[in-house]
Amino acid sequence: MTPGQTAIALMVSALTVCACDDAQLNDADARPLDVTGELSGDTGAAPALPEVAEIFTNRCSPCHIDRPSAGLLLASGPELRGRLMEASTQQPALRRIEAGAPDESYLWLKLNGSHLAADGTGAQMPFQRDPLPTDERQTIRRWIEGGAR
Ligand code: HEC
Repeated sequence: MTPGQTAIALMVSALTVCACDDAQLNDADARPLDVTGELSGDTGAAPALPEVAEIFTNRCSPCHIDRPSAGLLLASGPELRGRLMEASTQQPALRRIEAGAPDESYLWLKLNGSHLAADGTGAQMPFQRDPLPTDERQTIRRWIEGGAR
């Protein structure tokens, strides 16, 4: 090979490596992304309501625990599930929780600040506090995806 041919051969192999990396990235992009940008596909058992109720108790007090805000009480107890399955006060076209469909669940949209795009109103929850940590949001999302049992 002449020096020129060697240079071309090197460039071609470098391009091949780049194309290969791109293909892998595109493949990863094609998989469903959760709201935090992490790859979903967790095969563990879906969380159950008591785990989610604990997050509500810790993070939604006092506004939805000691009293209802926007008509929503999130206090633990036998009535919690029924309240969650009701239509949202702010966007009656959506339930607060739509089992199996987090992106149609108004409560989920409120936690992510995406409720305005669904014709909702008001602020992201928790009201005037930092958004929930990723792992807690993941627990709630996986609970909804798993049928909100
Ligand atoms: C500091 C008080 C406060 C905290 C904490 C809080 N909220 Fe709210 N929440 C409100 C207020 C006030 C409204 C109505 C005004 C608004 O939406 O901005 C509301 C409205 C809502 C609504 C709309 C209800 C409906 O049926 O349309 C949802 C859903 C909601 N909150 C979920 C939560 C969740 C889940 C948490 C805990 C992770 C939480 N909020 C924490 C005060 C609070």
